[in-house]
Amino acid sequence: MSLFAAVPLAPPDAIFNVTTRYNADTNPNKVNLGVGAYRTEEGKPWVLPVVRRVEAAMAADLTLNHEYLPIAGLDQFVECASRLVLGRDSPALVSGTATAVQTLSGTGAVRMIAEFLHAFHPVKVVYFSSPTWGNHNHIFKTAGYGGDCQRWYRYYCKETRALDFAGMTEDLENAPEGAIIVLHSCAHNPTGVDPNQEQWKKIADILQRRRLVPIFDSAYQGFATGDLDADAFPVRHCVSRGIQLFGAQSFSKNFGLYNERAGILVAVTGSPDEAAAVKSQLKRITRALVSNPPNHGARIVATVLNNPALYQEWVDCLKIMSGRIKEMRLALHAKLKANGTPGSWNHVVDQIGMFTFTGLEPKQVEYLTDEYHLYLLGNGRINMCGLTPANVDYVAKAIHETVLAVPF
Ligand code: LMR
Repeated sequence: MSLFAAVPLAPPDAIFNVTTRYNADTNPNKVNLGVGAYRTEEGKPWVLPVVRRVEAAMAADLTLNHEYLPIAGLDQFVECASRLVLGRDSPALVSGTATAVQTLSGTGAVRMIAEFLHAFHPVKVVYFSSPTWGNHNHIFKTAGYGGDCQRWYRYYCKETRALDFAGMTEDLENAPEGAIIVLHSCAHNPTGVDPNQEQWKKIADILQRRRLVPIFDSAYQGFATGDLDADAFPVRHCVSRGIQLFGAQSFSKNFGLYNERAGILVAVTGSPDEAAAVKSQLKRITRALVSNPPNHGARIVATVLNNPALYQEWVDCLKIMSGRIKEMRLALHAKLKANGTPGSWNHVVDQIGMFTFTGLEPKQVEYLTDEYHLYLLGNGRINMCGLTPANVDYVAKAIHETVLAVPF
């Protein structure tokens, strides 16, 4: 009898399997609108020029080596990344109540937060937006929050294709005191629908009054609006009000460092002593999970964030990326309108960030893939960066034909 005989086959990952299927398709018209990664106007991956230059300098610097990083990561990276999330003059940084460790990008940070809370927070209930990034539930389940521990707050309204603010706030009000609430700082994945600043303030009221435990998943700072400060508003606002929270910051998208897994976990606590204790426990979790984090991406980010000229170059890159996404939104919207595609498509321009939640239904998604070789998520999410001036016509026509052939 084999040791492995009883192991069932796991389902493929809903996002990465789209890439696998796209790669296997030999049709020349195929378009990948799946995984959230930036593409240039030519449809190619983009290594930011500022990243290339820093990497070249790193390769030439013979004082650098491949020694282990400390368990909490590269100090200068953790420090400048914390300032980016919380703001340079954040009260949490000034008072020493914030602490942070380097993580394997945002995903690693969310997993570490889940591990930490499972060990130290008595309320074993976590709320996700409905819908949320497919990996959130999976991460929390793996960290011990299975079954009834997982709940949903209303977020996206199918009819209006916009935020269900009343539903969201009602569900947060009714969450048990101390419940963990996973929030997206900006550019909500998969819907591209964010609360505005006034709405965030009301959400903060509830978080504070109900003593909820917010986790801000921040995978797109700089991508939503092109403005790093505006995209960090929800976190910074909560901190300014004295709300204790966690942040999971990724540098995959805004630095194009997808496979370098550069990120940090930030915790805003009640005192410097608490911060020190929390950090010590986070280091123990890191040691048990991955021993210590990788260096390459962290060093690139630290070098850029700590040098005003490089920083400015990076901000310019962010503007190019977010600007291209906005252009593609306008182009797709204009073409769907010009084609007279049934339905309202204003959400294509109203939503922000990398994704549009098209509203296309699973049967329509299947048709788009089978007939037109368009690869998108089964829930109708498309990565706007997969659109280019060369393929947007084709994509708009394919959506048009699909909606006619397979009505809503
Ligand atoms: C996505 O949502 O496509 C990205 O965040 C990539 C991932 O890890 O799922």
